[in-house]
Amino acid sequence: MTAARLPRMTTSRSPLPLLGGLAPDAFMKRYWHKRPLLIRQAIPGFSAPLSREALFALAAQDDVESRLITHARKRWQLDHGPFDIDALPPLTRKQWTLLVQGVNLHAPAVDALMQRFRFIPDARLDDVMISYASDGGGVGPHLDSYDVFLLQAHGKRRWRIGAQRDTTWLDDVPLRILKNFEAEEEWVLEPGDMLYLPPGYAHDGVAEGECMTYSIGFRAPLEQEMLQNFLYYLAENAADLPFARHFAGRYADPKQPAVKHPAALPDAMIDTLISQLERVRWGQKEVEDFLGRWLSEPKSHVFFDPPEKPLSTSRFVHEVSTRGVTLSAKTQLLYRRNRYFVNGEPLEVPISARSTLRILADQRELDAAECADFEQKDQEIVEILYDWYASGWLLLGPDAKGVRKLRAVRKKAG
Ligand code: SIN
Ligand code: CO
Repeated sequence: MTAARLPRMTTSRSPLPLLGGLAPDAFMKRYWHKRPLLIRQAIPGFSAPLSREALFALAAQDDVESRLITHARKRWQLDHGPFDIDALPPLTRKQWTLLVQGVNLHAPAVDALMQRFRFIPDARLDDVMISYASDGGGVGPHLDSYDVFLLQAHGKRRWRIGAQRDTTWLDDVPLRILKNFEAEEEWVLEPGDMLYLPPGYAHDGVAEGECMTYSIGFRAPLEQEMLQNFLYYLAENAADLPFARHFAGRYADPKQPAVKHPAALPDAMIDTLISQLERVRWGQKEVEDFLGRWLSEPKSHVFFDPPEKPLSTSRFVHEVSTRGVTLSAKTQLLYRRNRYFVNGEPLEVPISARSTLRILADQRELDAAECADFEQKDQEIVEILYDWYASGWLLLGPDAKGVRKLRAVRKKAG
């Protein structure tokens, strides 16, 4: 499989086989958040880049989220990983499924697959979950709050879907399973076929023989969650934000009279706080700063692997100018105009480094040619990249196929 690290702007109007020949623009207008789309052979001749055994090995790691769902005699059971291989049911047992979250963080080929969906902003792309199911396995009819692309990777799965409004859940089951699922359409997906579902669309996928399905999932925080987190940000950064200049030191009450009711809250204290709150201000800058930090923050179970023996800076510059660099699949690099955010941290970027960082953020890699003149003039970009390399956020060397493909598309796009 080839990686396609294409910045959105070069591809949004060209038909993508991945979307059944629709251009990303057309897909977003007609289907995204609106209606399901079945794409036969979205990836022609697709063969799962990760074997069943490799997936089971990931489910045994404690930095990987996994769940096991078994269904027998109308009973559903949910267990959380990590799972040693011998904790999984035998392959010959029917109706069980193993779900492994965030596989893109651990398997480069799966990360490369996820990159194909970057016609949608990184801030919205979440992860690739891979499910392995034995014959008859599935997670039951349900709906998700997020959009999802369900790519069949191995074997066959029968999907039934419906636009129902009835969201009554089965009682006494550890999973959200729809009580009154009514399917309106039904297909059997084979390797390379893909089904897009908008949020809230009921679906039920049942394996026909053993199968593996890749769910390319999206991130849609609750509005309440966004607001709460912004308020935490304001609170945490209050001392550094412009309204801090109104802070007047410690509360004082020179006019406080003697009281008959000592337990009553004093008016002056309430009034002081209200007038302080009226001075709290935020604007576009604070909102952008918050979103950049928050959305680029790695999930709690993500750990980076710094190089055991980092190269010296000069050796690093030499290597980079011959091999290029790639962001680690775990790194989130976002930007808004001239402000950059990497793995939860805002970054002061000198003017000289901005254009290179922007290319790196959109492509997720720089080829050797793009790093060739670092030695002569780009001290600032070298400092940033070396720091990321030493933290395990950036890796030496290209994804050659991805870079070559990008060059070809760029040339075509002029
Ligand atoms: C699965 O792959 O079994 C479940 C995916 C989903 O329904 O979202
Ligand atoms: Co689902």
